[in-house]
Amino acid sequence: MQRTSVTKAVWERLLAVKSGTACLCCGEWSQGEREALALYGALAAPTRSLQLFAQIGQSLDGRVATETGDARDISGADGLAHLHRLRALADAVVIGVKTALHDSPRLTVRLAEGDHPARVVIDPDGRLPNDAGLLLDDSARRIVIQACDIQRPAGVEVIRLDREGWIAARDIANALSDLGFRKILIEGGCITIAQFLEAGLLDRLHIAIAPLLIGSGPQGLTTTPIPSLAQALRPETHTFNLGSDVLFDCILAENAPLAGVCPEALP
Ligand SMILES: NC(=O)c1ccc[n+]([C@@H]2O[C@H](COP(=O)([O-])OP(=O)(O)OC[C@H]3O[C@@H](n4cnc5c(N)ncnc54)[C@H](OP(=O)(O)O)[C@@H]3O)[C@@H](O)[C@H]2O)c1
Repeated sequence: MQRTSVTKAVWERLLAVKSGTACLCCGEWSQGEREALALYGALAAPTRSLQLFAQIGQSLDGRVATETGDARDISGADGLAHLHRLRALADAVVIGVKTALHDSPRLTVRLAEGDHPARVVIDPDGRLPNDAGLLLDDSARRIVIQACDIQRPAGVEVIRLDREGWIAARDIANALSDLGFRKILIEGGCITIAQFLEAGLLDRLHIAIAPLLIGSGPQGLTTTPIPSLAQALRPETHTFNLGSDVLFDCILAENAPLAGVCPEALP
């Protein structure tokens, strides 16, 4: 499998595609660079409609953390860089409150060039403390989705949604769309991703597999049980060699992104 090569030129092109100033079709690229453009191009290209993509980093035996919840180093260095690239291509990144409480992720872009996305935490009962790092003002938008009336610090936007059991994933997606977001990364954990997957809202699901065996701990995605494999989802899947990790890029819906601005096509 050809190693995906995200060179400086490739990444600059992808950021230009995201900002609507370049195309994906022109240029001389090596095979590895073409792999990178194929992997990230559809996520970078401007879209008029909402585009939701999720990423899971897991072990060879399908675990996403140890029994004590240690998930930080499951992905190798290239898998982590991939996650940061997804953040850079997203307008907003969504996590569930269990990940927020357990991992305290910063959700910033540090291993790639690019802007920090807005940070969104789904916290129905207001369990995330107001002094959590995620809510601190560092110029990124900070949003809490909750089903209760807990006050949040100044500058933190609150989306108050009703729920019957779960808050409907579609209500969350619509509320984020109303705030102007188009490209949304659902970063985890698996409970949160499963809600969007089962609602049929994910365009892409990235599963990055790293070569380690954990042997115990939470499994990756868990959805409503199915009686036979005939009901299993079998998305069109493309495989990429990231280096330290192998990525399965599952295409769940084609969002028909715009092709970008091609200077060659201009009169
Ligand atoms: N390997 C990876 O890629 C990766 C990525 C992220 C996290 N992790 C690991 O995964 C673990 C946490 O993940 P998790 O799957 O257990 O939990 P999670 O998805 O982080 O959070 C789930 C919680 O968020 C709230 N929530 C999410 N969606 C909701 C909805 N539609 N309606 C209402 N509430 C909603 C609920 O909060 P309440 O419980 O308050 O009701 C729910 O229990 C941690 O160990 C973390 O380290 C691994």
